[in-house]
Amino acid sequence: ETIDWDPEDAGKSGYDHYMLKEIHEQPTAIRKCLRERVSELEGTIDVDALADLEHDGPVQFVACGTSYHAALYGAKLLRERGVPAQCFLASEYEVDAIPAIEETLVVGVTQSGETADTMSALRAANQIGAMTLALTNVVGSSAARECDHVMYIRAGPEIGVAATKTFASQQVALAMLSSVLSGEGSMEFVERLRDLPDQIQKVLDESNARDIADAYEGSDAYFFIGRGYNAPVALEGALKMKEISYEHAEGFAAGELKHGPLALVTDQTPVFAVIAGDTNVSKTLGNVKEVEARGAPVVAVTDSPEQVGQYADHVLEVPSAGPLLTPILANIQLQLVSYWVANRMGRSIDKPRNLAKSVTVE
Ligand code: G6P
Repeated sequence: ETIDWDPEDAGKSGYDHYMLKEIHEQPTAIRKCLRERVSELEGTIDVDALADLEHDGPVQFVACGTSYHAALYGAKLLRERGVPAQCFLASEYEVDAIPAIEETLVVGVTQSGETADTMSALRAANQIGAMTLALTNVVGSSAARECDHVMYIRAGPEIGVAATKTFASQQVALAMLSSVLSGEGSMEFVERLRDLPDQIQKVLDESNARDIADAYEGSDAYFFIGRGYNAPVALEGALKMKEISYEHAEGFAAGELKHGPLALVTDQTPVFAVIAGDTNVSKTLGNVKEVEARGAPVVAVTDSPEQVGQYADHVLEVPSAGPLLTPILANIQLQLVSYWVANRMGRSIDKPRNLAKSVTVE
């Protein structure tokens, strides 16, 4: 008797796809990312790798794809903490726009550390004398070697082409970076970071994302909306859906919906409303009512089901982790929805058509 055995499956630990395995590795990835960087005793955040980074000027992020969505989140965090920060798609980076060269820190957010667009933006920044920092997963990668400073996200190898655990790790690393650069952090924030892995585990254990995928697979399009820290999650939710299911999906800052995209909304276009740790719930609910009036089914991804649930057809619930971190939990629900839609459609989840894990051409 022989047993068919594909060496590729050995690495999947019983999961059907690397992507699903990597989604489930997020609690571990985040624990590793935090290890020896946050002190629960003192309520401080200290990143060894950044010990010699002296910087109190503006910050510019350069990144592509999922990493760009993490960078949008990081830039917003920094601004909220009083550090001027901008975010550029690496392929659109305007090195001339750097306001004060020697005072600007340019941060390349790149899982692989090899993305050509990001590397060329970082090289341009290096060339004009800006200080550069690589936020990457790969030790010894081009970004790690060529930047003045490097902070590793420690997510471990990611095989699935669609980024999942590395996105959460980038978000957490950026949360720590923002504390280091702004000098702001509190015992409460440290405790919230510490609790995050268990909360992610709870989302993974209790998620009803598969039922939502069953209910909406075959829709004309999928829309994702979110405000503030939830806006990058909406963009990422749509990108994940496109990448692995090949379905039409778009993400919008919730307030922008009425300025055009609303024309696309019908009863065949479910709208995922990310209302997680949202400090402007009533405004986002206003946007939800706009799509509902056009007949769109609404799936709320939220930590406030009692406030939001009555306006939604379905709820994907997440625990509360405050305004800064709850969006990280919401994103995990959206990863699972995309996974299960793509799975039902029989897509090549780990290696989607036309896509590469690391894109080395500009
Ligand atoms: C490719 C991958 C994306 C990734 C992007 C940036 O397009 O398919 O998943 O987000 O590159 O990659 P990086 O390694 O720079 O984070």
